[in-house]
Amino acid sequence: MHIVLLGGAGYIGAVATRHLAAQGHHVTVVDGLIYQRDDDPARLLPGATAFVHADLRDPLALRKAVAGADAVVHLGGLVGEPACAVDERLAVELNYASPVIAAQAAIEESVPHYVLFSSCSVYGQREGTVDEDATPNPLGIYARTKVAAERTATAMLTGRAAVTVLRLATVHGRSPRQRLDSVVNRMTAQAVWTGHIPLNGGSQRRPLVHVTDVAAVLAAVVSAPAPEPRVFNVGADVRNFTIAEIAETVHAHVPGSRIERGPERDEADARDYRVSFAKLAATFPHASCPTGLSTGVREVADAVAGKELGDPNQDEYDNYRGLIASRRSGRIAMLGSPECDRLYEECAAIDWSAL
Ligand SMILES: NC(=O)c1ccc[n+]([C@@H]2O[C@H](COP(=O)([O-])OP(=O)(O)OC[C@H]3O[C@@H](n4cnc5c(N)ncnc54)[C@H](O)[C@@H]3O)[C@@H](O)[C@H]2O)c1
Repeated sequence: MHIVLLGGAGYIGAVATRHLAAQGHHVTVVDGLIYQRDDDPARLLPGATAFVHADLRDPLALRKAVAGADAVVHLGGLVGEPACAVDERLAVELNYASPVIAAQAAIEESVPHYVLFSSCSVYGQREGTVDEDATPNPLGIYARTKVAAERTATAMLTGRAAVTVLRLATVHGRSPRQRLDSVVNRMTAQAVWTGHIPLNGGSQRRPLVHVTDVAAVLAAVVSAPAPEPRVFNVGADVRNFTIAEIAETVHAHVPGSRIERGPERDEADARDYRVSFAKLAATFPHASCPTGLSTGVREVADAVAGKELGDPNQDEYDNYRGLIASRRSGRIAMLGSPECDRLYEECAAIDWSAL
């Protein structure tokens, strides 16, 4: 199959490219490399059939890139609340306008399957266990742009192409484009670098998934498009951990590290949810995210200890700091095109209290 990965040079995309190429697929990566200092796609993306350096808000570039594809996968965007809060209008352009513009390109080029990466963050703070039918409760701009993109892209594509939304658990593990700003990778890298594992409270629950398992789910999904729109939580029921349990696992794998307990912080990320991944396991039993938390922890710990990765506090590992640096250097900016402005107004008009 010919698969186009929009945002395919990112943390997940680089691993997915390798995985899909190893299965014999032709993979075209489209990315603006908004964080990378090193622009060499051949180094970052072994296995990619083609690389297109483009902005994912550019309708013509997207049409050209997706023409003739069997599936287009949108995994670009601005990831995480801290990065999205830097400039909310930019966040809407990257996380709402871009997937909508890509959906339009897919329709115009008759691409039969559109896959949109979303996040379990859409569930926010919840009692009990949430599945795909739960009403979203997005707590911040990142989660809201994700919910809005899911809805609009699905409405546009229904009846025209297969559409699959993947709501990912928090991802961990090694990638050629390493992020160290999500909970497992950050805690592990800091434990190796400083010996400390700060833990403030830690009772919130986070579902986790290893990055290679996400790639395997994507491979399964693109190989089996379905006529009806579908949404899957991506992860495994047994991997809904509390932050304290994550800290204990990191401590167990990083010799000499120490957990430093403090009180729960008021300003701490309020996301707290237990997610059901039963639908994914039932639909794709051969891609039900078998990799344990320890695997990701060991990979990141070994990479930091072995100096494959540098100081974990560098901008390149952190989307918030990376975005600030990229804005300063002009690698990324608000576009303010008529289409982006129209879609910004559309997203801003959503009444979140009426979900
Ligand atoms: N990593 C996680 O823990 C996680 C969890 C839940 C959901 N997700 C979702 O998975 C997807 C991929 O996440 P990731 O961790 O690989 O992120 P990432 O930041 O590593 O990758 C995003 C990529 O998109 C590119 N990009 C973004 N906007 C662009 C634009 N306008 N033009 C050109 N390129 C652009 C960036 O250059 C980058 O390579 C995102 O949709 C994210 O919301 C990730």
